[in-house]
Order: sequence, then C-alpha cells, then structure tokens
Amino acid sequence: MSEHILVERQGAAQIIRMNRGDKKNALTRAMYAAMAAALDASNDDPEIRVNVIMGVPGAFSAGNDIADFMVVATGGDGGTEVFDFLRSMATLKKPLISGVDGVAVGVGTTIQFHCDLSFATPRTVFHTPFTDLGIIPEAGSTLIGPALLGRQTAFAMLALGEPFPAERALQAGLIYKVVSEDALEAEVLSAAARIAEKPPTALATARRLMAGDTDKLVARITEEGEHFRQLLTSDEAKQAFMSFMSRKK
Ligand code: COA
Repeated sequence: MSEHILVERQGAAQIIRMNRGDKKNALTRAMYAAMAAALDASNDDPEIRVNVIMGVPGAFSAGNDIADFMVVATGGDGGTEVFDFLRSMATLKKPLISGVDGVAVGVGTTIQFHCDLSFATPRTVFHTPFTDLGIIPEAGSTLIGPALLGRQTAFAMLALGEPFPAERALQAGLIYKVVSEDALEAEVLSAAARIAEKPPTALATARRLMAGDTDKLVARITEEGEHFRQLLTSDEAKQAFMSFMSRKK
C-alpha cells in the first residue's frame, strides 16, 4: 500500500483517495499499485457496491509522475503498475465514480473515461498534453474517446491537447455534473449511496452492457502502452520531461 493512497469505507462505498497534494497528486508506481489493488479487491467483495475515486482540494491528479517517465525514457524499468491500474479500471465489475477538483492532467483526465459518473467543480480543467510531451493518449482513450465525445472533440482533447474546463467537459459528455467545491464530496457520496441501494446484479449487468467489450478495451490499452513506452524514449519526450523537471517557477 502507498502512503499517498488512502482507502476507506463509507457504508457500501470504497473510497480511494489520492493524497499526494504537495505534488498535485502526480501518480507514482506505488500509487498505481495501491489503486489497482483496491479496485481488484472490490470485484469479489460483496460488501463493496461502488468505488469512489477522489483527490485533494485543488488537485485530482497531475498525471503520471514525470520523474517516473524519465526513468523509462533513460532506459530504466517502468514496471507494470500503470498497466495493472488501467486494466483494473477496464475490467472493474463494480461502478466507479469520481469527484474531481482542480488539476486533472493526463491520466487524471483519462480516468474519467472509465467512470460511470464523474462530478467536477467549476475550477477543474481537464487537460491531456500527451502529444506535446511526445507521447500518445492512454488508458484506452483512443477507443473510448471518439465513441464518447465524437471523433473531432476527442481529437481536440486527446491529440491537440486543448484544455477542457469543467463546463466544456460537461457539454462534451466527459463528465456527468458540475458541482461547487463545497458540495463536491457530499454530492459524490450521495451518488455512491444511491448506487449502493440498487439491486447489485441488475446494476452490474446494466453497467457491463453499457461499458462495452472489455477484451477489446484491454487490447487497446495494451496497444497504446506499446507505442507509449517506445515514444517515452524519443528525444522529443526526453526534452519535454527535462524541461518540466528543470523549469523555473
Ligand atoms: N510529475 C512530477 N511532479 C509533478 C507533476 C508530475 N506530473 N505535476 C506536478 N508536479 C510537482 C511539481 O514539480 C511541483 O513540485 P515542487 O513543489 O517540488 O517543485 C509540485 O508538484 C506542484 O506543482 P506546480 O507546477 O508548482 O503547480 P501548479 O499549480 O503551478 O501547476 C500543473 C500544476 C499540474 C499544471 C503543473 O504542475 C504541470 O503541468 N504538471 C505536469 C503535468 C503533466 O504533464 N503530466 C503528465 C501528463 S501525461
């Protein structure tokens, strides 16, 4: 378990909270591993009827830790934790809902493609600057994105890296609802409680049918991952990571 991922229960809801606020919830391998373990554990636990993922005030997640990207870019081992987490989301049997406030970069945005309901505050901005970093969209977003948002909006978000403030993300269909900072947590937990009251088999079946073909999704995550890893070692990517790590504030 990672000290930066807090997992707790509220009734039948498992709450996974990213808690590395000083780094805007940039995700490390240990954090991915802890989140994957929590999600996987929910599949066979009848006491858990819904998963909730949240960050800290002002930061849902700044995406993958760039220092970890740099390890792979310079020939090191990236481990399987990121893939494990993405596969856990793609194969999850229980509903997943998110509460997003503030920064939602990279995987901080693409997590929403795996959520059944996402709530975000007005100050939230969803941003996927993958291509600017010399890498490609991940988490199956090249498959789900065009289907969910339409091809052109998906292209603007995922390939052009246009930031999507919460209201625009709502119009685009990336998220379910915009709620104030003060109300976010209560709103998310109340949605979780509503989900938890539903007959679980009916809900799980409806959800599975809506989520589509899991094998196809995992295959796409794998394919994206192969390109992603290769591109991480490109000069463009290394330059982008170095310029972030050495930037002056
Ligand atoms: N990886 C590693 N560290 C990160 C990080 C990331 N993805 N995102 C933020 N941090 C760190 C910063 O280096 C900084 O650390 P420091 O205080 O030790 O210098 C701290 O988190 C706070 O970030 P800061 O940039 O000061 O906050 P901000 O509010 O000005 O900007 C972001 C927030 C998210 C816009 C900015 O940090 C950013 O662009 N991060 C990179 C996002 C990214 O490209 N992720 C990969 C996507 S694929």
